[in-house]
Amino acid sequence: MIIVTGGAGFIGANFVLEWLGNTSEPVINLDKLTYAGNLASLATLADDPRHHFVQGDIADRALVDRLLAEHQPRAIVHFAAESHVDRSIHGPEAFLQTNVMGTFQLLEAARAYAGSAQAAADFRFLHVSTDEVYGSLDATEPAFTEQHPFQPNSPYSASKAASDHLVRAWHHTYGLPVLTTNCSNNYGPLQFPEKLIPLMILNALAGRDLPVYGDGQNVRDWLYVTDHCAAIRAVLAQGVPGETYNVGGNAEMRNLDVVHTLCDLLDELRPRADGVSYRGQIRFVTDRPGHDRRYAIDARHISTTLGWTPQHTFATGLRHTVQWYLDHPEWIADVTSGAYRQWTALNYGERPDAGASA
Ligand code: NAD
Ligand code: TYD
Repeated sequence: MIIVTGGAGFIGANFVLEWLGNTSEPVINLDKLTYAGNLASLATLADDPRHHFVQGDIADRALVDRLLAEHQPRAIVHFAAESHVDRSIHGPEAFLQTNVMGTFQLLEAARAYAGSAQAAADFRFLHVSTDEVYGSLDATEPAFTEQHPFQPNSPYSASKAASDHLVRAWHHTYGLPVLTTNCSNNYGPLQFPEKLIPLMILNALAGRDLPVYGDGQNVRDWLYVTDHCAAIRAVLAQGVPGETYNVGGNAEMRNLDVVHTLCDLLDELRPRADGVSYRGQIRFVTDRPGHDRRYAIDARHISTTLGWTPQHTFATGLRHTVQWYLDHPEWIADVTSGAYRQWTALNYGERPDAGASA
C-alpha cells in the first residue's frame, strides 16, 4: 500500500494509472480536487478496488494522520502542489499554503508515523519537485546538476524550493527516510490546458491565437510524462534516503520551435478546413514577468546509479500527445469549465500588445 498525494492532477494521475497497470499494490489517492484535479482522468479506475480516492487537503493533519494509521502505507509519493508559474504570479498565497505549509504538515505526519511501531521498516517519503528551484541558465551554461545552488525566481519555484529544503531538513534533523526528485518540464496525456503544450493544441483547434511569451526563445527541457513516472518508480525502489535525483528528457527546445512543431503535427493530423497552416495563429504577446530563460537537466546521477533513461524522444512523445488530445474531446470539455475561461481571460485577455503577428 502506498499513499499518493495529488493523484488527480496531470503527473499524479499518470503515475497512479501506470502504478496500477504494473503492480497489484493498492494506492490511497489523497487529492483536494482544486481546478487542476480531475477525477475524469481516473475514470478507468472507478471499479478498481486497489484505488481508494480520498478528497482532502494535504495540510489537514488530522486527515493525514488517520490515513496513515488506518492504511499503514510503505511510502508517501508526494505530487500535490500548486504547479503553474503564471497563476503563482497572479496569486502567490495558495502556493505558499499548499507547497510550503501543506508539505510541512505532511512531513510532520510522516515523521510521527515513521517513528511508530506500526510503520513499515523501509518506509519512504518521496517528494516530487522541479528543476525550476535551480533558477535560470544562460545559453552556454552547463545543465543543472544536483549540486547546483537553489536560485528560484518565481513564486512557484520559490515555494517548491522551500518545500525541498523542508524535506532535506526532516531527513537531516529527524532521520525521516526521504527521497527528492527534481524534474524538467513534463508533457503528455491528461495535462491541464493552462501549460504550454496542451494550451497551444486546444487554442489551435478552437481557431484562437497561439500566445507566445516574449521572443519565444526561452528554452525548456521536455520529458514525456510516463518517463517521469518510471523515474519516480525507480527512485522509490532503489533510491538512497536523503539523496536528490535530477530527472530530464535531454530534449532542450525553444518555445517557438515547440509551437511550430505542434502546428506542423496538427496540419498533418487535423488540417484546418481552409488549408492554411496553424502557424498563422501564432501571436507574440507580452513576456511573463521574471521569465526564466533556460532550464536544462543533467540526469547522469539517476542514469548511472539507478539505470533510468527516458524511453521517448520529443518527436514520438509529442505526436502521441497531440493524438491523445484529438482523441479525447470529452476530457477537454470536462476541464475547460467556466473557471478555466475566467483564467484565460485574466492571463491573456488583458495583454495590451496581443495581436502582433509571428
Ligand atoms: P497539477 O497542477 O496538474 O496537479 C496538482 C494536483 O494536486 C491536483 O490534482 C490538485 O487537485 C492537487 N492539489 C493541489 N493542492 C492540494 C492540496 N492542498 N491538497 C491535496 N491536493 C492538492 O500538477 P502536476 O503538473 O501534475 O505536478 C505534480 C507535481 O510535480 C508538482 O509537485 C509539481 O511541482 C511537480 N512537477 C511538475 C512538472 C510539470 O512539468 N508539470 C515538472 C516537474 C515537477
Ligand atoms: P509552462 O508550460 O507554463 O511551464 P513552465 O513555466 O513551468 O516552464 O510554460 C513553458 C514555457 O512556455 C515557458 O517558457 C512559458 C511559455 N509559455 C508561452 O509562451 N505561452 C503560454 O501561453 C504559456 C502557458 C507558456
